[in-house]
Amino acid sequence: MIPLNEPNFKTRLSKLLRTNRIGKSIFLFNELDSTQDFAMALPNSESLHGTIVIAKKQNMGKGRIGRTWISPEGGLWISIIFRPEFNVENIIFIQFIGALAVVNAIHEITKIDCKLKWPNDVLINGKKVCGILVDINLENENKKIVMGIGLNANIDSSSINNFLNDGNIKATTLKEEFGNDIDLIFLIKSILEKLEHYYDNFLSGGKILDIIESWKEKSEFGKKAIVYDGNEKFMGKVIDIDQNGALVMKLSDGSVKKIIYYSNVSFQS
Ligand code: BTN
Repeated sequence: MIPLNEPNFKTRLSKLLRTNRIGKSIFLFNELDSTQDFAMALPNSESLHGTIVIAKKQNMGKGRIGRTWISPEGGLWISIIFRPEFNVENIIFIQFIGALAVVNAIHEITKIDCKLKWPNDVLINGKKVCGILVDINLENENKKIVMGIGLNANIDSSSINNFLNDGNIKATTLKEEFGNDIDLIFLIKSILEKLEHYYDNFLSGGKILDIIESWKEKSEFGKKAIVYDGNEKFMGKVIDIDQNGALVMKLSDGSVKKIIYYSNVSFQS
């Protein structure tokens, strides 16, 4: 087991990684307010495609829709910078790619089968083990996407659940589901390699339907859901994900509603 604060962690990770671009530049901190904010604030010159930012713990971790992300030591808190070369209309698929990479990496390392909950929660036995946050800067010269992955790895779920509101889905951790601590270096390696695979496929075009199909295989349809779209609230059953990445719901009144989720898109200038 190689702890994140081991002096050689970065060198070891670099040697292990079989990627072309993702993880070639690594920022590693014992403590940070938020890897996401750090990555977003990095100057253009240091925001190379594939740069990663990891923190052993975060003091002000960010979740979706303005929520706090509880990030004690033992978890995997990582942000990855992408310099988009694709049509930004397809940006919604970035979050799907992140979740698929995490699900496959968890399976590779633990043999656990995770489920996906739209738009980007990774669940084990109905509880959330990982969340993904996508921040986007579409400023002309400096287009940048930062994908933040928060994976409850080697922590106790009580350290998270005690802080959640009733409305939140319960949290679980890999350690609890697997029964043992996970070696974070291999988890990071696996996630980044899979992320590069999905991203490169995505760039090469025509693979969006494959991404949706892979996503659907891991999702549970027919479940009752309450979805908030802006200030509107919809109740019904999830029946599909369409080719635009929209969630398709059959509402209680029988009508069909499609909801597109664009994550935390913050257009910065
Ligand atoms: C969610 O709300 O489901 C998304 C949570 C994303 C948390 C990660 S941890 C690494 C990165 N840094 C942050 O501050 N947030 C993301």
